[in-house]
Amino acid sequence: MTRHGTEARCVPVRVSELRRIIEGEAELFVPRAPRIYDAPVFFNPIMRLNRDVSILCARILRPKTVLDAFSATGIRGIRYALEADAEEVWMNDISRDAFELMLKNSRLNFPRALQVGVGGRVVLIHGGSILVLSKEDANRLMSDKFRYFDLVDLDPFGSPVEYLDAALRSVKRKGVVAVTATDTGVLCGAYGRACLKKYLARPVRGELCHEAGLRILIGTIVRYAAKYDLGVEVVLAYYRDHYFRVFLRLRSGAKWALKSLGMLGYLYYTGPGRFEYETAFLPSREGAYGPMWMGKLKDEESVKRIHEECRNCGFIGRDTCEFIELLHEELDVPFFYDTHSLAREFGTQVPKVSTLIERLRELGFEATKTHLSPTAFKTTGGLADVMKAWRGG
Ligand SMILES: C[S@@+](CC[C@H](N)C(=O)[O-])C[C@H]1O[C@@H](n2cnc3c(N)ncnc32)[C@H](O)[C@@H]1O
Repeated sequence: MTRHGTEARCVPVRVSELRRIIEGEAELFVPRAPRIYDAPVFFNPIMRLNRDVSILCARILRPKTVLDAFSATGIRGIRYALEADAEEVWMNDISRDAFELMLKNSRLNFPRALQVGVGGRVVLIHGGSILVLSKEDANRLMSDKFRYFDLVDLDPFGSPVEYLDAALRSVKRKGVVAVTATDTGVLCGAYGRACLKKYLARPVRGELCHEAGLRILIGTIVRYAAKYDLGVEVVLAYYRDHYFRVFLRLRSGAKWALKSLGMLGYLYYTGPGRFEYETAFLPSREGAYGPMWMGKLKDEESVKRIHEECRNCGFIGRDTCEFIELLHEELDVPFFYDTHSLAREFGTQVPKVSTLIERLRELGFEATKTHLSPTAFKTTGGLADVMKAWRGG
């Protein structure tokens, strides 16, 4: 078994190996280990932003039943219960150490909860809400709970693809799936054949790889969902800290499934600034990257509300709020121009991103920064317009 595999340890985590932390409204015991992958139970403090954004999404979407399918320390599920007022939160992890730690952490945060054991699961009842803790294979659990959850959160190691089918069956037909993918090397083209195998898509390399990877991930979920007559609407999708994260609201019916499939398409990229894209089920010519989602990466109204929530609730990290601000302001058009790649390509100095944005706006185009790269910008203008702005407007 791997270090973080199912049988990484046979003895429970000792208290001396734990330290106490606060994240959001939750108090947690987490492993005290020099490197995160050495710990008996996985905990990555950098993923706080991922969890913060999940809480913000849940606060505006208001799911009653939530599944945190890969719970590890339980931090995410506990936060859904404490900060998003979910009535029934299921926390699951295949590792016994993780199960014991999530139970310890649940008891720490809900000390007066009544605890009962039901068929290998532990149920904690506190006030009008409950936590259900289990140590099952996520696919098995999700198959068991058919059309049960309002929100299914998948945060596995690496690729989520092998859990998508079960998640789409376990979530209600108008529910939400929140999916993390950390296999960035695959989705960004470092391992092109692995991307073909896992996502049935051809990834692109170069400066557009992260946005294309994000769109390949969404496109894959769209194709998985279509066979169940489910369509998707993107609430929010982003790339950050070497992972992808998408929040998708499901829409029920064949029409929705076909509408979502209609937003799949292909990217044609031949070098910095030289890209085209099309929406089409099959590529119209050779050299296509994809298939990938060519629709919106955010729902404007939802992101506006998430942005407001972020400013209003005191327990969300400051860097999360800054990131949400950036997402809120970002122009939602496919792909972008990267100043460093363009300068290298054309042998010129790198201008300031803010200067280029200003000049493009003066020329009548929309233009903003993008969360995908600090050296890049999005615009409704084409390469010729960008070069005009580059030369001074
Ligand atoms: C990336 S960690 C989850 C981190 C957690 N969501 C957080 O925010 O801190 C992935 C977890 O999935 C668990 N896991 C791996 N395979 C699993 C499976 N098939 N079913 C359920 N849990 C699994 C691992 O034990 C590990 O704790």
